[in-house]
Amino acid sequence: MLDFNGKVAVITGGASGVGRALGDRLVREGARVVLADIDQGRLDVTVAEIGAEAGLAVDVTKEASVAALADSIFDRFGAVHLLFNNAGVGLGEAQRAIWTLPMNDWRWGFDVNVLGVVHGIRSFVPRMLALGEEGVVINTSSGNGGLRSMPNTPIYASTKAAVTSISEVLYQQLLREGGKLRAAVLFPGPNTVNTGIMASNLVRPADYAGATPGTVAYRTMQDLMRTTGLKMALTEPEEVAEFAVAGVRAGRFWLIPESENGDQLLRTRTEEILARADPRSAW
Ligand SMILES: NC(=O)c1ccc[n+]([C@@H]2O[C@H](COP(=O)([O-])OP(=O)(O)OC[C@H]3O[C@@H](n4cnc5c(N)ncnc54)[C@H](O)[C@@H]3O)[C@@H](O)[C@H]2O)c1
Repeated sequence: MLDFNGKVAVITGGASGVGRALGDRLVREGARVVLADIDQGRLDVTVAEIGAEAGLAVDVTKEASVAALADSIFDRFGAVHLLFNNAGVGLGEAQRAIWTLPMNDWRWGFDVNVLGVVHGIRSFVPRMLALGEEGVVINTSSGNGGLRSMPNTPIYASTKAAVTSISEVLYQQLLREGGKLRAAVLFPGPNTVNTGIMASNLVRPADYAGATPGTVAYRTMQDLMRTTGLKMALTEPEEVAEFAVAGVRAGRFWLIPESENGDQLLRTRTEEILARADPRSAW
């Protein structure tokens, strides 16, 4: 898709972080941007700040909520050309053993990060196909799990492995439909992106109550670094948005930022698998 001017773009998880930056970037490209998020207060502020056309409440864990979002957008705009299934949560699970994590963390992680994407595909793709116009569905994965499984975040990594797989299947199935609607998968980075994802527990619905005791919600990555003394290189969400929009414009499926270190980890993992060698390279 070369020109975003006048195109309708829907972004879940659009109130903050990567979703907000994608919205901001697409508004500047002339797109008609609809942000959707569970955090209505923040959504309203972001819509006003970036000049989006609408901010609609959605809980991507609920199929009916995503279906209602699609209904109201198609009623009002008559079309959707870009769908970013981007809402995602961090589980505050760092360094915990996979066998100790509470089931509600697994349920919440999979319901938002995986079923949220599935709900988006089910509610929007049939109508985008019926529209018959050029379009792209972009799912947000992560290098962590989506390309290689790191041992620190068991639930998050496994949800993102699922997002990559769903995206590859979607891409191939859409090709068979004739190719006007395509899929892409976004890996924000190359470094940890400077967003509020560590504070996801603040928007955790009551159905998933029971965060592991001691789980801390850091509002920003700077908070995390200050509190823990951890030093991390950060990528700004605006850089992710610029790179993602350029990749969509170029018609790419794999929206993976250039990174020597990231490429090396992926190469090592692939070589290990082909050599039937045990996984040691992840971290
Ligand atoms: N921050 C990183 O380093 C990083 C790296 C790789 C991938 N990602 C992915 O990027 C995407 C965006 O995350 P971010 O880093 O911008 O974090 P963020 O917390 O700033 O944004 C996520 C947004 O999703 C919303 N959300 C959470 N649960 C929801 C629900 N049930 N329904 C609707 N919206 C919901 C939140 O309110 C928030 O606005 C996620 O899929 C995340 O996994 C982030």
